[in-house]
Amino acid sequence: MRKVKRMNFDEEMKKNVSEVKHTIRRYLPEEGGEQATLLEAMNYSMLAGGKRLRPLLMWETYKMFGGVSPVIEPFMAAMEMIHTHSLIHDDLPAMDNDEYRRGMKTTHVVYGEAMAILAGDGLLNYAYETVAKAFEMEPGNQNVGRAFGILAAKTGVCGMIGGQSVDVEMEGKPLKEETLDFIYRLKTGALLEASMMIGAVLAGAEDADVEEIRQIAGDVGLAFQIQDDILDVTSTVQELGKPVGSDAKNHKTTYVTLRGLDQAAKDVETVSRRAIRRLDGLSCKNEFLRELIIQLIHREN
Ligand code: IPE
Ligand code: IPE
Ligand code: MG
Ligand code: MG
Ligand code: MG
Repeated sequence: MRKVKRMNFDEEMKKNVSEVKHTIRRYLPEEGGEQATLLEAMNYSMLAGGKRLRPLLMWETYKMFGGVSPVIEPFMAAMEMIHTHSLIHDDLPAMDNDEYRRGMKTTHVVYGEAMAILAGDGLLNYAYETVAKAFEMEPGNQNVGRAFGILAAKTGVCGMIGGQSVDVEMEGKPLKEETLDFIYRLKTGALLEASMMIGAVLAGAEDADVEEIRQIAGDVGLAFQIQDDILDVTSTVQELGKPVGSDAKNHKTTYVTLRGLDQAAKDVETVSRRAIRRLDGLSCKNEFLRELIIQLIHREN
C-alpha cells in the first residue's frame, strides 16, 4: 500500500485555522441599516484576528468522534462570537481597561464605551441566533438541543461570566490557590470545555466519553490561563497583540504572583500532560488534536 505522507503539524494547523476562519466568516452579520455602526463594531473585533482556538478544538473533537455534518459549523461560529464578546467586555475601562486586542485598538477605544458594551451584547445574542440555524439544519437531531444547553450553561453564571465576576471581585485581594483555580476553570476553562463537549455531543459520543472530554478540556483551559498569566509578564505587546503587564496594573493575584514564573511554567506542563494522558485513554484518536494540546504548553501568543 502506498504510504500517504502526513502534513507536518504547522502546515496542518495553518490549513485547519484557515478553514475555521472561513466558516466563521460565513456566519457574521451583514453590515448596514440604521444600526450599521453596531454591526461594524461587532465585526471589527471578530475580524481583528485571534487564534480561533475554541472553534478549532470543537471541530477537531467532532472529527475525532466521527462527526461529518455541517451542523457543527453554526456552533463553531457561535463559540467564537461568545469568546469575542467576553474579550470586548474584559477590555472595557470598568474591567481590565486595556487598549489593544488582537493587534488592534480595542473596540471601546475605536467605537466608544457605549457602542463596545452593545457590540459585546450584540455578539453574545448573535451567537444564539446563529445556533438557531443548527435546529433548522437538523430538526430531528436531539444532540443539537443538548449542545445548545452546554453552550448556554458554560457561558453563564456557572461558566465564563460567573468566573469573570469572581475575577473582578477579587482584584487587589490575596487569594488561595483553590480560589484561583475556581476562577480559571470558569472564566477560561468553561468555554474550552463547552467547545470540546459540543464537538463530542454533536458527533454522538457516549456520555462517559463526553465527561472525559470535559475533564480534558478543563485541564487544557486551566493550563491555557496559567500560560496567559506567564505571557502577561514575559512577552511583548507586538507578540501578543494585547498589552503586557495588565494583571499587575489591575492588582490581580495570578499563578505567577502566587507560585512564581518557574513553578507556573511547570504547572502548565503538568496539567497539560494530565490532559494528554486522558486523551490517550479514549478509544478514538486524533493525532492533530493531541499535538495541538502539546504545542499549547509552550505557546508564545
Ligand atoms: C484570551 O483568549 C482570553 C483568555 C481566556 C486568556 P485567546 O488567547 O484565545 O485570545 P484570541 O482569541 O487568540 O484573541
Ligand atoms: C480573561 O482573562 C478571560 C476572559 C473570559 C476574557 P484575562 O483578562 O487574563 O484575558 P486577557 O489577558 O485580557 O486576554
Ligand atoms: Mg480579565
Ligand atoms: Mg484582560
Ligand atoms: Mg491575561
